[in-house]
Formats: sequence, C-alpha cells, structure tokens
Amino acid sequence: MKKIVIALDGYSSCGKSTTAKLVAAELGYAYIDTGAMYRAVTLHFLNHHISLTNPREIKEALHEIEIEFHYNPKTKRNEVYLNGLNVEDEIRKMYISDMVSEVSVIPEVRRAMVAQQQKMGRKRGVVMDGRDIGTAVFPDAEVKIFMTADVDTRTRRRQDELLAKKQLVNFDEIRENLLKRDHIDSTRAESPLRQAEDAHLLDTSHMTIDEQVEFVIEHATAQL
Ligand code: C5P
Repeated sequence: MKKIVIALDGYSSCGKSTTAKLVAAELGYAYIDTGAMYRAVTLHFLNHHISLTNPREIKEALHEIEIEFHYNPKTKRNEVYLNGLNVEDEIRKMYISDMVSEVSVIPEVRRAMVAQQQKMGRKRGVVMDGRDIGTAVFPDAEVKIFMTADVDTRTRRRQDELLAKKQLVNFDEIRENLLKRDHIDSTRAESPLRQAEDAHLLDTSHMTIDEQVEFVIEHATAQL
C-alpha cells in the first residue's frame, strides 16, 4: 500500500503527540516527535554551557550531538536518546521547557534538525509532529493538520501530564510557559509556527482523543 507523510503541527500541548502516537499505531507508521529533538539539543547545550549567541560553539556542539529514537516495549513508546543515553524523562522537565524555544530559534539548530527529520521520513510512512513539519520539513506531506486549543485547556492537559510524572507545577507557571513558547515559536524568523495553506485546522478544545485520531485517520485514508 502507498505510504504517506502525516504532518501534525500546532501550538504547545494541544494533543499533537498523543494523537500522532495513536494514528501511527493504527496505520503501522513510525512516530517522530520533533519537539523531543529540540528538547534534547537544549539539554545538551545546557549540560555543556553552550553560549546561544556564539555560532561557532553552536556549530561544534551540533556536530557532537546524536539523537535517536528507540522503542521501549515496557512503556510502549518511542523514547529519545541523546548520545546513547535515554533522556526521555529529563527533556520533559520545566527547566527544558523554559529554554527550548530560545534554542529552537537558532538557524543552525533548525537546519540540523530539519535535515535529520527529512532523513528519518524519507521512506515515508511516518507521522511527525512539531511546528514546521507541513511548512518546512515536509511541505509535500500528503496530510497536514494544524492543531490548536484554548490556552486554559492546554494548560490543564500539560499539568495533568506533568502530574502523572510526579512533577507538581503551578497552573500559572505552565500557562505562562505555553504562551511564551507559542509567541517565540510563531514570531521567529526561520520556519515560524504557522498553519500551512493546505493544512486542515483542528481545534481540540472540546474533542476527545478518539475524535482527534478519527479526524486525522479520515484525512489519511482519503490519500491512501
Ligand atoms: O512539541 P514540544 O512542545 O515538545 O516542543 C518543544 C519546543 O520545541 C517548541 O516549543 C518549539 O520551540 C520547538 N520545536 C520547534 N520545531 C518543531 C518542534 C518543536 O521549533 N518542529
């Protein structure tokens, strides 16, 4: 059967990764969480005290970074590895969320990540979620969905996710972080977050996960 690329872009914490994972499982596709890649770069930069204003340091650091995804049968999910180390839990912490958008505006970082993502999806048969998949990584994706939800709903969902990992974070702190990231992500010069002209808008504020998955699957099956 024909294999396609499904691009799920949108604002922070509006259900992209949960939807993407389930769609990928249903179609037997690979799921690639591109946000995890920017988070892993951020972790590396913080650990190695890389100056975000020094292009030479940034370029050298990017050469030292290897990001991979490996399936963990225990958690039933693809987990992210940074230079051979599983950093899945570390990269979800608030101190990474606080920095990641500032790292993601750096053109050298974007170019390196986009090139890797294009390589990962070159055989198609992938569901990729992020901010610029339908506009920059795979502008030729057969299915493009742009997800959004009202900010309080997104904050609650993010708080629940963090709570499930035993991280207690104040509602206002999360809300502020989401709004700050959305602002930086949508206003950066290189591949900003925006809805591709041919993307379908999906507002998940009042939708269940099953409904979100169904919406994407319907658009995907129309292309198969
Ligand atoms: O998807 P997630 O919220 O984990 O992404 C974390 C951050 O990574 C985003 O806020 C954004 O700054 C950056 N990102 C990006 N481009 C992508 C995916 C994520 O700039 N394709």
